[in-house]
Amino acid sequence: MRLDKYISSQRTDLSRADVKKLIRAGRVAVSGRAASDAGLQVSESDEVTLDGERIEYKEYLYIMLNKPAGYVCSAREGNSPTVYDLIPPELNRRGLFPAGRLDKDTEGFVLMTDDGQLAHDMLSPAKHVPKRYRVRLVEPYRPEYATRFAEGIEIDGGEKCLPAEAFPDEEDPFSFTLILHEGKFHQVKRMAHAVGNEVVFLRREAIGNLEIPPDLALGACLEIMHKDVEKLLTK
Ligand code: URA
Repeated sequence: MRLDKYISSQRTDLSRADVKKLIRAGRVAVSGRAASDAGLQVSESDEVTLDGERIEYKEYLYIMLNKPAGYVCSAREGNSPTVYDLIPPELNRRGLFPAGRLDKDTEGFVLMTDDGQLAHDMLSPAKHVPKRYRVRLVEPYRPEYATRFAEGIEIDGGEKCLPAEAFPDEEDPFSFTLILHEGKFHQVKRMAHAVGNEVVFLRREAIGNLEIPPDLALGACLEIMHKDVEKLLTK
């Protein structure tokens, strides 16, 4: 791949024209030697640096976003801010999309990636990847919800859900943890509605075996590194 293409594919805050200027200014090096030719052929194994900092080649990007309420998981809708507004420029590369959307009023874990296969596997009901939610209800949680959810509850429109696990909160009688293995539209809200209750607060805490760390602030994101990516698919 051409050197200017390599850099701009990894750093979407830099256009090919920007990269050419940086090369002309002597700020780019390949394997320790200043590069002067934007068309130089480089491969993933070459050490490409900008101002001495390595630009590692990543085929795909995986970003854990701790979405606050008020942001939509799609392109701009009216005046609502979107999850793309929360991704810092150095990570906001072309082709990123939210793998599994959360409602505007839901907060928590949104995976932003450009890896279509992983997103497909993570979201496919056949793969049974668990997604863990913390739910707060209008009326107190009742123990029979766990049985109804475990049986695979029918939600409005006659759609049957896959079996899901519910665990009451020890301290708050209105809250519980719900583990789903699929992602139907507004599923948690429709499941609560099907048992005669309503959701007042919803947060996705984990996907697969990967959970939002307690120190990741609402609105912040972090890049998921290679060793953790497979946890997204762990049952
Ligand atoms: N279920 C819902 O109802 N909303 C979400 O945002 C996610 C799951």
